[in-house]
Amino acid sequence: MKAKHILTCAAALWCLIASHAQTIQVTTSETDLFMKVSPAGRLYQVYLGEKLANPSDAEHLDWPVYPSSDGSVSERGWEVYACSGNEDFFEPALAMQHSDGNLTTRLYYESHEQKAVEGGTETVIRLRDKAYPVAVTLHYVAYTKENVIKTWSEIVHSEKKPVTLSAYASTMLYFGADKYFLTEFSSDWAREAQMSSQQLQYGKKVIDTKLGSRAAMHTHPFFELGIGGEVEEQQGTVLMGTLGWTGNFRFTFEVDNVGNLRLLPGINPYASLYQLKPNEVFTTPEFIFTLSNKGTSKGSRNLHEWARNWSLKDGHGNRLTLLNNWENTAFDFNQDILASLMKEAKKLGVDMFLLDDGWFANGKHERKDDHAGLGDWDVNHAKLPQGLPALCNAADEAGVKFGIWIEPEMVNPNSELFEKHPEWAITLPNRETYYYRNQLVLDLANPKVQDYVYSVVDNIMKADPRIAFFKWDCNSPITNVYSPYLNQHQHQLYIDHIRGLYNVMRRVKEHYPDVPMMLCSGGGARCDYEALKYFTEFWCSDNTDPVERCYIQWGFSQFFPSKAMCAHVTSWNKRASVKFRTDVASMCKLGFDMGLKDLTDDEIKYCQTAVANWKRLQPCILDGVQYRLISPYDTNHMALNYVSADKSKAVLFAYDLHPRFKEMLRNVKLQGLDASKRYMVKEINLMPNAQPTLEADGKIFSGDYLMKVGINVFSATELTSHVVEITAQ
Ligand code: GLA
Repeated sequence: MKAKHILTCAAALWCLIASHAQTIQVTTSETDLFMKVSPAGRLYQVYLGEKLANPSDAEHLDWPVYPSSDGSVSERGWEVYACSGNEDFFEPALAMQHSDGNLTTRLYYESHEQKAVEGGTETVIRLRDKAYPVAVTLHYVAYTKENVIKTWSEIVHSEKKPVTLSAYASTMLYFGADKYFLTEFSSDWAREAQMSSQQLQYGKKVIDTKLGSRAAMHTHPFFELGIGGEVEEQQGTVLMGTLGWTGNFRFTFEVDNVGNLRLLPGINPYASLYQLKPNEVFTTPEFIFTLSNKGTSKGSRNLHEWARNWSLKDGHGNRLTLLNNWENTAFDFNQDILASLMKEAKKLGVDMFLLDDGWFANGKHERKDDHAGLGDWDVNHAKLPQGLPALCNAADEAGVKFGIWIEPEMVNPNSELFEKHPEWAITLPNRETYYYRNQLVLDLANPKVQDYVYSVVDNIMKADPRIAFFKWDCNSPITNVYSPYLNQHQHQLYIDHIRGLYNVMRRVKEHYPDVPMMLCSGGGARCDYEALKYFTEFWCSDNTDPVERCYIQWGFSQFFPSKAMCAHVTSWNKRASVKFRTDVASMCKLGFDMGLKDLTDDEIKYCQTAVANWKRLQPCILDGVQYRLISPYDTNHMALNYVSADKSKAVLFAYDLHPRFKEMLRNVKLQGLDASKRYMVKEINLMPNAQPTLEADGKIFSGDYLMKVGINVFSATELTSHVVEITAQ
């Protein structure tokens, strides 16, 4: 009883002192993050949640008081960038061994400033250790309108010798709630963005990757955290976070002894004890998050808008529809075959023909399959005797643009490049080599290798500046983990490799700012917002079965706008009609990867209509606001709609995946329309001579009705799809 009394008094006194302390507010239109400097000079998170209506209420905010067994109150709070060896016994953001061997760091608030930046306000907070010359600068950019916060940290010291970093999170956030649920996105080749959820219990849950390159093959760098309840589409509080890092990442979620949760996103320090030299600045990747109080649907819209406005390359530009040849010809093509495919591209009405793998390398290293040739980026004379200019000429003649596939970070041992520069490949000098897809990863820590990789793009552009698009692939994780360049500094490999990759991407963007590029990694194993500063879009998956694609696209849409997500119509799952396959691809950036010879005349006509419709509706589908309506995870169907910014146009996509016998088919209620407007409902993307099957077709409804009552767009026949254009009158 007495101990409890002491505790209450001590806590009250603490609150009083705390309420007069320095307060820092990071704020968007809907979220507030408050931090406070303690009397001892430490910085604590005191609030992260829905924006406070009265800023003056912030003076009452306080960090949670952790009682100790003797009733005293310790300095343990929600330290904003907790370090190892402190009062806090849980996972730290920063763990550093100083040059004298000491393992502790204690950071004190030094100063902060706020300044306007593109899209919002940046808060910069400087922290410093008193016992060691170590400083950490925390950055938070609050994108006001989109309700997105981007945060990263910089670590620097001026000790006489290097220090060793064993943990270096991008940031640290805390939550106090009775329950936490986590939705993660597991993946594999042809099984990307598979969503699963679980409740977090005491202890740690870690999502990480150690693949080095093709790093997101088994799990993607994003998650959804339900705070106080399950992650839901339309309701509840959810933090949706993603790390801008194309290499090894790690998200740690730790529930502590009193049920508080801390989140630590950052580079995975696995095999990466970083030796930080005096005055070298270690900059962490950016962690981007939105906090939605209306479920993931709203959170996704925040991220989509943020991405288009402030992050994705050419976020406001159009995208090129295309015909790719990978699924159609694989490695088996020549100039004539490609020239005729270009004509097919024109016939379909798409903007571009995209030549995939197999166009390069000669002689004994000729690229007939994936065993040889990577690294030798000279045009294959046997298949394409007149080189890239002849292909560009053929594209000009056909009236389409020409794009090309590359995989410049990789090498087949069976190549001239490897014969000339075996030391450029990441590979072990003293063990038997193992291969992934018969190739090795080039050592991007080496500046000469960076120059070479840049030259792959540069040489192609110099061979013919008409090249209008690149598909940049990356098919192997880092195997045989040893960088010949780094010698004694192997612990830097995973980090320096990705920094080297960014050096190349930055250079490419500087020299060829207007060339759109697709990020690809054996399907969708590269899908992060740092790479997407340099790429206009990414390839979601080699799995183009439209049923599987519904799940994959639903998953990626949680974090990426449709504008960034490439979807192609192929021959995967021929049980599904060409219409169904095309309608599924049409909800993202539309492309094709099939030969027209496989299609009937009616199917070709259908595709032409679908392409024309998609191009006409591109401003709504790619730049509009997305509302996910019916989840394939919860039902036997899927539906979503897009609405243009001025609410004058909407497009509804509806799919019957595997309806059950006698299943009750409910109306789909649209979202995001103007309730007071009247809209004409029209079914589009119909096969030639087919009549619209929707009852609502050709009728006019109020936006209010469409959103409250909805329309019947589902059927009991599996693999049926409907695309509906909704136009304000
Ligand atoms: C990867 C890509 C495919 C295709 C092949 C070519 O698997 O994901 O789309 O480009 O490489 O080898």
